[in-house]
Amino acid sequence: MIPAKVKIVEVGPRDGLQNEKDFVATATKIELVNRLSRAGLQNVESASFVSPKWVPQMADGGAVLAGIERRPGTIYSVLTPNMRGFEGALEAKADEIVIFGAASEAFSQKNINCSIAESIARFEPVAKATKDAGLRLRASISCALGCPYQGEVPVAAVVDVVERMKALGCDEIDIADTIGVGTPARTREVLAAASRVFPRERLSGHFHDTYGQAIGNIYAALEEGIEIFHASVAGLGGCPYAKGATGNVATEDVVYLMNGLGIETGVNLDQLVEIGDFISRAIGKPSASRAGKALLAKKLAGAAPCV
Ligand code: HMG
Ligand code: MG
Repeated sequence: MIPAKVKIVEVGPRDGLQNEKDFVATATKIELVNRLSRAGLQNVESASFVSPKWVPQMADGGAVLAGIERRPGTIYSVLTPNMRGFEGALEAKADEIVIFGAASEAFSQKNINCSIAESIARFEPVAKATKDAGLRLRASISCALGCPYQGEVPVAAVVDVVERMKALGCDEIDIADTIGVGTPARTREVLAAASRVFPRERLSGHFHDTYGQAIGNIYAALEEGIEIFHASVAGLGGCPYAKGATGNVATEDVVYLMNGLGIETGVNLDQLVEIGDFISRAIGKPSASRAGKALLAKKLAGAAPCV
């Protein structure tokens, strides 16, 4: 049955901005996170504590976390690949630690420079330290619907990593379509298999929209009973280690879909459209959100009478 309510995890400040070539000012990142939480997003992935040599855009994670206003009840998540990242995240008072692995060996090597098994070994102390600190632990599994290097990824490979992440004590696990190749039937198949080994209400869909399939995949995931979706305002982003991959599905498009289905998100769509416009202008790129662009055009048309 389709859920009555979903949680949207906003990943724009992290997944969205990490791929920007020109450094986005820390103040802009802070303003983006603040505006998103004010618009009702209860979980904002705000930064990464990764090697600045690998992802220079995320080098200011500590300053971003230090500068944001903390809205009570909002979860501010950060990516941490190892203990060094965890220590930075702890000092920055992140609420949720995100470890990130892959269902594809090739992508694991390209993204975090180690095999899947080595990555799990690195995540073990991070998971333990996260639990000891009383923080939430989430895991992201890249290439769950296909890999830019190896192509097809077997469902069994995804399930295997879900089981390993579960053993680490993860509160939530993200099934990520890094390069947006998945289609609805495959999405359902993978989510159904994952939910046989991990509670479905704690699985999330993280869909990049490269092939325009993300909204279809989200609908398929809803039919599979999934209640958590990741999205990026203005459809910002891509992955530095997945060439050609575009951003996540736009948050405006997801909220528009949910509103139409009568599914509660707690997110104010009008505010979100303005945030999409704000960040698109700040980085000098047009928004990739179809709903965002349409709603903004409608608003502007309403404000300025035709002559
Ligand atoms: P490495 O080179 O194998 O590791 O990188 P290392 O331990 O040899 O460290 C290399 C250098 O980085 C050293 O500095 C370390 O001190 C430093 P040097 O001695 O050369 O001056 N270092 C760090 N600095 C700051 N924070 C840290 C840290 N760790 C080491 N935490 C490593 C291994 C994992 C560190 C590297 O590969 C890395 O940082 N990768 C990050 C990749 C990344 O962020 N990718 C994008 C996010 S994942 C994603 O977008 C997918 C997702 O959205 C889901 C989906 O869509 O698929 C989540
Ligand atoms: Mg991603």
